[in-house]
Amino acid sequence: MELVHTTAELRSRVCAARSRGEIIGVAPTMGALHAGHQSLIRRAREECGFVVVTLFVNPTQFGPNEDLSRYPRDLDGDARASASAGADLLFAPPPEEVYPPGYATAVTVEGLTAGLCGRSRPTHFRGVATVVAKLFNMVQPDRAYFGEKDYQQLQVIRRMARDLDFPVEIVPCPIVREPDGLAMSSRNRYLSPEERQAALGLSQGLGAAEALFEQGERDAAALMGAVRAVLEADSLVRMDYVELVDADSLAPQERVEAPALLAVAAHVGATRLIDNTVLRPAPESGDLEP
Ligand code: PAF
Repeated sequence: MELVHTTAELRSRVCAARSRGEIIGVAPTMGALHAGHQSLIRRAREECGFVVVTLFVNPTQFGPNEDLSRYPRDLDGDARASASAGADLLFAPPPEEVYPPGYATAVTVEGLTAGLCGRSRPTHFRGVATVVAKLFNMVQPDRAYFGEKDYQQLQVIRRMARDLDFPVEIVPCPIVREPDGLAMSSRNRYLSPEERQAALGLSQGLGAAEALFEQGERDAAALMGAVRAVLEADSLVRMDYVELVDADSLAPQERVEAPALLAVAAHVGATRLIDNTVLRPAPESGDLEP
């Protein structure tokens, strides 16, 4: 695996691969790679002839009081993790390569960004959409791999790629969890042992709601209540939101009639974590093909 820092180097490697007839895959990341990121890279390796990992801690997606300055940075570890998952190229640009002096453009996706994490992080998705649009233009991938843990981000990027005619297939990849259920996140490394234990409330709350759903519960308030009850039981956890929304439009729902996203965000100590599950009602027997 090769490591490059400039768009010119990236382009020359990608052009060479494309002229060999390779399909180009990209896994965009902010580094601090874990098994969740590696699952994106492995999937890209299976489906593409040339796999690029981008590593850029994007300042524009952090709010003024968020963790940009302390976000974990470990280029050597990330290079090892990318190589062992099968990447061909690691692109790690410095900030001025992505946002040169005088940079003045942003990409805004309306609607989808208003609720869920957009409510407490009002500028976050503009930063994400902007940097992902730039990374798509820099890499020019055929396929781009994103994790479903950042479900709202995934929907925003899908919409952005469709609205702006990016010729890229967005490939969603399932959440990867620790053996005890905690969704993998680069921010998990901020957690003290007590906080790490309390953080299990997110996946356990979702699990309690999933169990109710399996028993036939379709009422959003009851399903959200099951998550809240678990989170409120732990004083280290401060809930940001629990919401049930349509899995496609992200519009709030009162009942689960179609695939619905049950999403949670909470602060555990000073660390903000998110998790989600998609609840899929079985089709009515009348809906089945004859
Ligand atoms: O999911 C992430 O790590 C980031 O939001 C992304 C997509 C790499 C954009 O900076």
